[in-house]
Amino acid sequence: MDIDIKKPLLEVQGLWKVFGLKQPDFDPQDEEALARMKDSGVVFAVRDVSFEVKRGEVFVIMGLSGSGKSTLIRCLPRLLKPTLGQISINGQSVSDMDEKELIQFRRHETAMVFQHYGLLPHRNVLENVAFGLKLRGVPPSERLEQAREAIVQVGLEGWENHYPAQLSGGMRQRVGIARALVQESDLLLMDEPFSGLDPLIRREMQETLLQLQREVHKTIVFVTHDLTEAARLGDRMAVMREGVFVQQGTPQEIIDNPSDEYVERFVSDERQFYKSPRKPVIYFPKKKRQARPLPRVTAPAPLMAAERR
Ligand SMILES: Nc1ncnc2c1ncn2[C@@H]1O[C@H](COP(=O)(O)OP(=O)(O)O)[C@@H](O)[C@H]1O
Ligand SMILES: [Mg+2]
Repeated sequence: MDIDIKKPLLEVQGLWKVFGLKQPDFDPQDEEALARMKDSGVVFAVRDVSFEVKRGEVFVIMGLSGSGKSTLIRCLPRLLKPTLGQISINGQSVSDMDEKELIQFRRHETAMVFQHYGLLPHRNVLENVAFGLKLRGVPPSERLEQAREAIVQVGLEGWENHYPAQLSGGMRQRVGIARALVQESDLLLMDEPFSGLDPLIRREMQETLLQLQREVHKTIVFVTHDLTEAARLGDRMAVMREGVFVQQGTPQEIIDNPSDEYVERFVSDERQFYKSPRKPVIYFPKKKRQARPLPRVTAPAPLMAAERR
């Protein structure tokens, strides 16, 4: 397949996701009909969203809970089927794929990290990271080697034989990231991966992600409800409200020029932060990828219960 590297990796055009639609289709131009449908309980979770993400870019989708972020990011690899609109990833139209093509496409072209880890409880760290490669048909010895490499990259060397229940939330999310890295897909989809973590650990994970991104140059779509996180991580971002992208731009552009009151409310606290340097300091050495010493965890981690929803 020929890939034009100057083209955006991800292109989304006129995307809608409507829940509870009673008839098979609707006219997106007919505002009155849309309002009536809404009154009758139809949910317009994503409304006419268009955006592009360039190769190597981190694009953040930010909005309050219920604004449609998860629905949107799940539509990208068609974990949810969009109601209307076009999605193209790496020059391939996701909207046109049949089920078989989709399964292959998801395994090879996308990797996803969620807030609630989704680790396999009866498999250790190494097996969890290698699992996706098994599905892709990579031979066992190669799988383990690639998994070990990714584990070092996320700073978990020495924890290969531990089980998810023996890890803290931050460490489990490192496993989630290692599992996504090992997929070697260009596109990484992250839905509030750090939202369940304590502030300090969260900050540390943001730094880890920025550091990794300098090495691996993925194209990342990152969902958060936190503008500080968005500003730290995003090259560009979109603010979402009730299914609509109300503003798109660099974090700086949005903070300097919020398009309406909703955005202004997010932004007013953040201005403070922007008086300090833009990107956080990275504490660990760049060249030699020594795993950082992580605190010893006595199993089971006390955070576990609180983190489960
Ligand atoms: N499967 C579903 N059926 C009906 N409504 C849904 C479904 N999934 C999400 N929604 C609704 O869509 C809206 C957006 O939800 P979601 O995408 O989860 O928002 P966010 O991730 O920003 O919190 C919410 O009103 C939610 O209740
Ligand atoms: Mg969500």
